[in-house]
Amino acid sequence: MQDPPSSPSVSLSRDELDAYWMPFTANRQFKADPRLFVAAKGMYFTTHDDRQVLDAMAGLWCVNAGHCRPEISRAIAAQAETLDYAPPFQMGHPGPFQVANRLIKHLPGDLNHVFFGNSGSEAVETALKIAIAYHRLRGEGTRQRLIGRERGYHGVGFGGISVGGIGPNRKFFGSLLTGVDHLPHTHNLEHNAFTRGQPEWGAHLGDDLERIVALHDASNIAAVIVEPVAGSTGVLIPPKGYLESLRAICDKYGILMIFDEVITGFGRLGTSFAANYFGVVPDLMTVAKGLTNGAVPMGAVLVRQGIYDAFMQGPESSIELFHGYTYSGHPLACAAALATLEIYENENLFNLDRALIQYWEDAVHSLKGLPHVIDIRNLGLVAGIELAPIPNQPGARAYDCFLQCYKKGLLIRTTGDIIALSPPLMIEKHHIDRLVTTLAEVLNAL
Ligand SMILES: Cc1ncc(COP(=O)(O)O)c(C=O)c1O
Repeated sequence: MQDPPSSPSVSLSRDELDAYWMPFTANRQFKADPRLFVAAKGMYFTTHDDRQVLDAMAGLWCVNAGHCRPEISRAIAAQAETLDYAPPFQMGHPGPFQVANRLIKHLPGDLNHVFFGNSGSEAVETALKIAIAYHRLRGEGTRQRLIGRERGYHGVGFGGISVGGIGPNRKFFGSLLTGVDHLPHTHNLEHNAFTRGQPEWGAHLGDDLERIVALHDASNIAAVIVEPVAGSTGVLIPPKGYLESLRAICDKYGILMIFDEVITGFGRLGTSFAANYFGVVPDLMTVAKGLTNGAVPMGAVLVRQGIYDAFMQGPESSIELFHGYTYSGHPLACAAALATLEIYENENLFNLDRALIQYWEDAVHSLKGLPHVIDIRNLGLVAGIELAPIPNQPGARAYDCFLQCYKKGLLIRTTGDIIALSPPLMIEKHHIDRLVTTLAEVLNAL
C-alpha cells in the first residue's frame, strides 16, 4: 500500500468559507471549525492541517477501489485532452456504448440496457419515469402509483424524496409527488439486535405490499422501489426472505421492482451487485457512486430487455424516451467508469475474500458491550453501529463520536445516532484493526 500523500498547503479565511452553501451540512457549525480534505491516496485522506485520516466510508460510499487510482486519473486526463464533450441527443461518442457493454456483463438476468445520468438522484428520477412510461406504452396508463419504503433514501429529486422515507428530507418541500405509498421499514431492535448478516425476523414485512395492492388495485400501481440494503438511513439489512417475498408479490401483480443499488452496487456486499448477492433480479436498477469510483459524477439506470423493447416501437424516426441530461454519458465520466471497471475486474473486487469479510464482521461485533452501543449489524463490507441517543438530543451522541473519530484520524459517517461504516474494498486487516481500535477508544470516552 502506498504512503499517504502530504498536503498542499491550504488556508481559507472565515470570509472565504462563507459563499459556498454546503449540502446536508450544519454550515455555521462547520465554518466555525472547518474540516477540509486536500489530498487522498488509497485508504487515506490528507486534511488541511496535514493529518492522515483513514477513510472508513469510501468517501461517501463511492471510492470502492481506493483514492486517486492513477489508472483512473490518467484515463480522465487523456479523455479531457481528446474529446472533452459530445452532445448526447441525436449524437454520440464511443464512451457510453463501451461502458454499457462492460457494465451489463456484471448484471444478473437480462438487465442489459443502460441509461446514463450524473448522480444517484438522477438515476432514481429516470427509473421512476421509465417505470410509469413503460406501463403507459403497454396500454396500462393507469399504473402510475409508486411505492417506496419508510426510511428509504433515494436521493433528493422530487421523485426520490417522494418515494423516500426520511422525514427531514421531505417535510420542507411541499406536497411532493402524489400517488405514493410506503412499505414499513424493516428495522427492529427488539427482534434483530446484534444480528450478524441477514436477520431471521421480518420477512413478513414485505406482505404489506399486498395491503397496498388491496387498497389501490394493482391496475393503478407502477413500481416498488427499495434499497436492497438501506444505507443512508443507517444500514438496515433486509431480513431473510424479505426481498424474495417483495419480488414474488410484484410478479403476481405485474408491478415493476426497482432496486436502488447506488450504495450496494460495485462490490459492496462482496458480489458485483446486491441483486447477485440476494439472487433477486429487479426489473430496473439504479447505480452511481462506485461506477466511477467517485472520480467523476455518473449515474445510470439498468433495465431488463422487455422494458427496453416496450419503448422501441413506433416509427424508427421517433424519439422513444423524452428524457435525458446534457451530461448523459459524459466523455470524462465514461473514461473514469471504464478505468474503474477494469480495476474492479483485474483486482477481483466483485468477489471479495470471504475471510476478509468474516474478519470485518468479527471486528465490528467486538464493539458489542461498549458504552451506548445498542446494536451492531453488518453485511459484506458494510456495518452499522447504533448508539443510544442522549435524551432530547437525537443524533448528538453519534455526531460527537464522528468528531472525536475525525480528531483521531478516522472518517466515519453518522445518521441520527447510527454510525455507518463502508470502507474502500481494498481495505486490509490492519486498517480494520485501526478502525475498530479508534472507535472503541472514542466510544469508551463518550
Ligand atoms: C440508495 C441511494 N440512492 C440515491 C442516492 C443519491 O445519490 P446522489 O447523491 O448521487 O444523487 C444515494 C446517495 O447516497 C443513495 O444512497
